[in-house]
Amino acid sequence: MNNFLTNDSALQKVLIPQNRLQERVSELGQEISQAFEGKDLVIVAILKGSFVFAADLLRAMNIQCSIDFMGISSYAGQPGSGVVRITKDLDQGIAGRSVLLVEDIIDTGLTANYLLHNLWQRKPASIDICALLDKSARRLIDLPIRYRGFEIPDVFVVGYGMDYQQRYRHLPHISVLRLNGSPDVTPDSIVSDPAGSTSES
Ligand code: IMP
Repeated sequence: MNNFLTNDSALQKVLIPQNRLQERVSELGQEISQAFEGKDLVIVAILKGSFVFAADLLRAMNIQCSIDFMGISSYAGQPGSGVVRITKDLDQGIAGRSVLLVEDIIDTGLTANYLLHNLWQRKPASIDICALLDKSARRLIDLPIRYRGFEIPDVFVVGYGMDYQQRYRHLPHISVLRLNGSPDVTPDSIVSDPAGSTSES
């Protein structure tokens, strides 16, 4: 049925199908449009993982806004430390503007926490986080995620822009990758959270 899965045994199963992604991204686009109507909104998308999500989110919005990108990578030898290297900085200033930080997935929260600190130094009017996926079971730092696509269990996922060793970004859905020792999951273990949560201001 699904060529993406039958071609690669490392892909365990589809966790979030394409139609569910599109529905949820569309809802998020509408919510964000209502909340930021009339504001000077700049979407800051974090490369590379969020580029597909950010592109779909932008097209689901019906207000004027600008988009910019930050490229980051973990420092070699310090994975999971939360210390990241900025490989591409923003092209525009964000002072006095409303920033929406768009992330593919928030896992421990260390990366987003680092980015928040970095961006607050530039004196924006506000920063809100929009994360497509929330792996809250692994969170080390409490973060105010205002817009959340889906809560997912503690599994490694790929597709819709997210990779494993630069592979699988092209998948139109989100799949669980079978890593050594990882348990099987059922699609039922995904929890959608359309209500989102608290706001950063
Ligand atoms: P954190 O600092 O632990 O929150 O990690 C966030 C970053 O780790 C994300 O932006 C992703 O780049 C990467 N990441 C965490 N979990 C996954 C996953 O399941 N699949 C792909 N990338 C992941």
